[in-house]
Amino acid sequence: MNLQNLNQSKQDLIAKLQAVSSEADLEIFRLEYLSRQGSIAQLFETLKTLDGEQKRLVGPQLNELKKEIQQLFDDKKEKLFQQKIHAQEEKQKYFDVTISKPVAKGSLHPYTQITEQIQNIFISMGFAVADGPELETEFFNFTALNVAKDHPARQDSDTFWIDTQHLLRTQTSTVQIRTMQTQKPPIAIIAPGRTMRNEATDASHDFMFMQFEGMYIAEKVSISNLLATLKSFLTQLFEKEITIRVRPGYFPFVEPGLEIDASCPFCTGGCSVCKRTGWIELMGAGLIHPEVLKHGGIDPTKYSGFAFGFGLTRLTMLKYQIPDIRLLHSSNIQFLQQF
Ligand code: PHE
Repeated sequence: MNLQNLNQSKQDLIAKLQAVSSEADLEIFRLEYLSRQGSIAQLFETLKTLDGEQKRLVGPQLNELKKEIQQLFDDKKEKLFQQKIHAQEEKQKYFDVTISKPVAKGSLHPYTQITEQIQNIFISMGFAVADGPELETEFFNFTALNVAKDHPARQDSDTFWIDTQHLLRTQTSTVQIRTMQTQKPPIAIIAPGRTMRNEATDASHDFMFMQFEGMYIAEKVSISNLLATLKSFLTQLFEKEITIRVRPGYFPFVEPGLEIDASCPFCTGGCSVCKRTGWIELMGAGLIHPEVLKHGGIDPTKYSGFAFGFGLTRLTMLKYQIPDIRLLHSSNIQFLQQF
């Protein structure tokens, strides 16, 4: 730019300013032309060097140029600012409330999943879900279940005693008696829940584990009813035909007492789960002992019943192939996310 053709310079500046479309470019324009070191300021410096006559001629033109460019610059600045505000408003107007950052999703604990599954199967067969306290009395955990005073399960090594009368239940069989005392036959219940035993912890033992109790009391209940119910249950749970094997077993509250094994649901010829035997030990069961019915206020000459109980923890570990029992209570997110 020089003082000789101010008119042309002005037109150039106007064109440049018109082409500016961002605040950043506008700032570059300001630094180049309108700042103290800018070209226009330099022209005023040059003006000082002219003689009086020329100064009088060019001075007003230069002032005019500066005023006009400054004005256009201010207009442009305001326009860009308004555009920015407008764009922000538009963005807010169309703010999509349904877009959200992905959040960590929870999942149901394997216990919860398998408990729901088992409950659904039994509910479909007409059973109701029953419950009982985890802090129990000696009566419900032992005496009413026909467990003799000198039975080893009563010793401190197995039971968490709170005082001489109270303990943390060692089995869900307590719910048998509690239900008998509050309901009249026919009774068909299942009772999943926590049980506690004073055991050293390792990969397959924990001081707390889940059990699942089942009980049916009516007239003329037999072992056949028990076996049919269990076979139907296991076949639905493992979604394949399961064969049951029965061995004698001793539990003070059933007579006869049985140990129930199931054909291994995971293999046909033997695997690590069934230790290559083709069978897995699953539960204790039997016909409810007449003494137990009496403790529950039920006439053993009129009614009979079956009961079974199994380790829900063990079943969960089998079903989901969990190698260490301690993982189930570890609150380990990586472990839990797999289910
Ligand atoms: N309560 C027994 C146990 O904890 C299992 C069982 C329940 C056995 C019902 C027979 C009948 O081992």
